[in-house]
Order: sequence, then C-alpha cells, then structure tokens
Amino acid sequence: MNNTPEKTVIGNYIVQVATVEHAGLAETICSEMESSAKARGTGIAKRSPLYLLEKMKEGKAVIATTTDGEWVGFCYIETWDHGKFVANSGLIVHPSHRKSGIATAIKAMAFKLSRSKYPDAKIIGLTTSMAVMKINSELGYIPVPFSELPKEDDFWKGCSSCVNYDILTRTNRAHCLCTGMKFDPLEVAERAEEGKKPLIWDFLKESKLYEHWMSVKQRILFGREEIGKKKAGQLTRKESKTQLTEL
Ligand SMILES: CC(C)(COP(=O)(O)OP(=O)(O)OC[C@H]1O[C@@H](n2cnc3c(N)ncnc32)[C@H](O)[C@@H]1OP(=O)(O)O)[C@@H](O)C(=O)NCCC(=O)NCCS
Repeated sequence: MNNTPEKTVIGNYIVQVATVEHAGLAETICSEMESSAKARGTGIAKRSPLYLLEKMKEGKAVIATTTDGEWVGFCYIETWDHGKFVANSGLIVHPSHRKSGIATAIKAMAFKLSRSKYPDAKIIGLTTSMAVMKINSELGYIPVPFSELPKEDDFWKGCSSCVNYDILTRTNRAHCLCTGMKFDPLEVAERAEEGKKPLIWDFLKESKLYEHWMSVKQRILFGREEIGKKKAGQLTRKESKTQLTEL
C-alpha cells in the first residue's frame, strides 16, 4: 500500500492531509458544519474545534484551501469496532466553493489515506446527499443495510444530533433516511482471486430509481400523514411513535 497521499492542486485550490498548521481553521470549519446541517434540516455528527484539531495533529483529516490559505473544505477519518471499520466523516465544502469538484478531491484523498493507514478496514459512510452517494460509488462503495455498519454505540451516537434520530432509534438502528455505504477491501480481493470484477454501484444509471426509492422510504418512515403534520408543526413525539409502530 502506498504512503500518505500527496497534495492535489485543482486550479486555485490545494487539497492535502491537514496538519497542525491548519489548527486556526478548526473553529471556522465547525461553525460551517453546524450552519450547513441547519440549512439542510439534517444532522452531521457534532464535533468540537478541539476534536478537529486532534484529527489534524494525528494526520487523520483532509483539508482544502485556496492557494491563499483560505479554508474551502474538510473531512476527517474515524475508526470503529476496533479498527474493523473506517468512516470518512464530516465532509463539508464552503458554500461559495461548491460544485467545483472539491468534495470529490477531498473524498478521494481521504479514501487513499484510509486505505494506506488501515488497509484491511472496511470503509463506510452514512449519507442523505446524492452528491456524496455519487462520489462514494465512484470510489467503489456500494449501498448496504445498516446491519453491515459498525455495531459500536459511539458510532451511532454521532447521529444523535440529527433531526431524524428518532427514526433510527425507533427502528432499532435498522432504517433511517440516510443510506449506508461500504467499500470492503477483502471482498474486492476475494473477487479478484476468483477472477471477478469488484461489485460496483452504477449510481448515474440508477440514480432516478434510487431517488424514487428514497421518496418511498421517506413516506414509509415518516408516514404520509406525519409529513403533512410535521410541515404544519402539529405532530407530537408520541403521535409520531405510534404511527410508525402501526406501519
Ligand atoms: C455535499 C457537498 C460536500 C458536495 O461538495 P461539492 O464540492 O460541491 O461536490 P463536487 O463539486 O465534488 O461534486 C460531486 C458530484 O456531485 C454532484 N453534486 C454536487 N452537489 C450536488 C447536489 N446538491 N445534488 C446532486 N448532485 C450534486 C456534482 O455535480 C458532481 O458530479 P459530477 O462529478 O458528475 O459533476 C457540499 O454540497 C456540502 O458541503 N454540503 C453540505 C454538507 C453535506 O451535505 N455534507 C455531506 C455529509 S454526508
């Protein structure tokens, strides 16, 4: 396995493994994560500037900046279930720099970093973002049921700051609006030994079907009536629980 990835330069952007030199950006990144989660109406595992700083020190984060050193994007890696799983989490790109290929470059570097640090680990992610699903599928992730993700409570605690956490807990961590995705290096190696190509998820081909599935899933998990009530702000927590038990 090759060593730590090099810097990637895309126009005026630099994507690299973060170091303590980027410590001064941790607070800005945290506040952007928070406001972006609010704007999307979903959650992102809430992390403190100190936590991000620790990731920078450990060489477990990827950062994008402009050539002038202005912060552009970020992502960090975490291990779960005693290193069996690695998650590339907290992906965020500053709104003014989106759709320039920055997230794609950050994720590609985080993937390479994860593979080089933890070559046997399964690389996983949880997301509602179509952009992230597209990027992940290109890296070789495939969608998997939540039962194939880490069992460790702390992994799922990351979801507790999400507005949909209630769905996750009432379904005993079996379903939520996020899609679980996994890249399994051992599975890839086994298939290669058998002369088979790795399984791939052709996201572009299947995205329309997938969007349809997401809306069905949302209808089932929320319940048609609940969506209406939620919009009108009328649904109590108790009502919402009863509705799902009855589905
Ligand atoms: C999701 C996010 C990280 C994407 O960042 P980005 O730098 O704009 O992404 P890229 O430019 O690398 O785009 C990746 C691909 O997704 C597509 N894409 C980007 N935003 C999209 C969107 N809102 N809907 C659908 N596709 C989108 C792009 O067109 C691109 O596809 P292409 O390679 O065919 O052109 C960014 O929008 C963001 O920070 N959102 C808020 C935080 C968030 O949702 N994080 C993910 C948590 S799992």
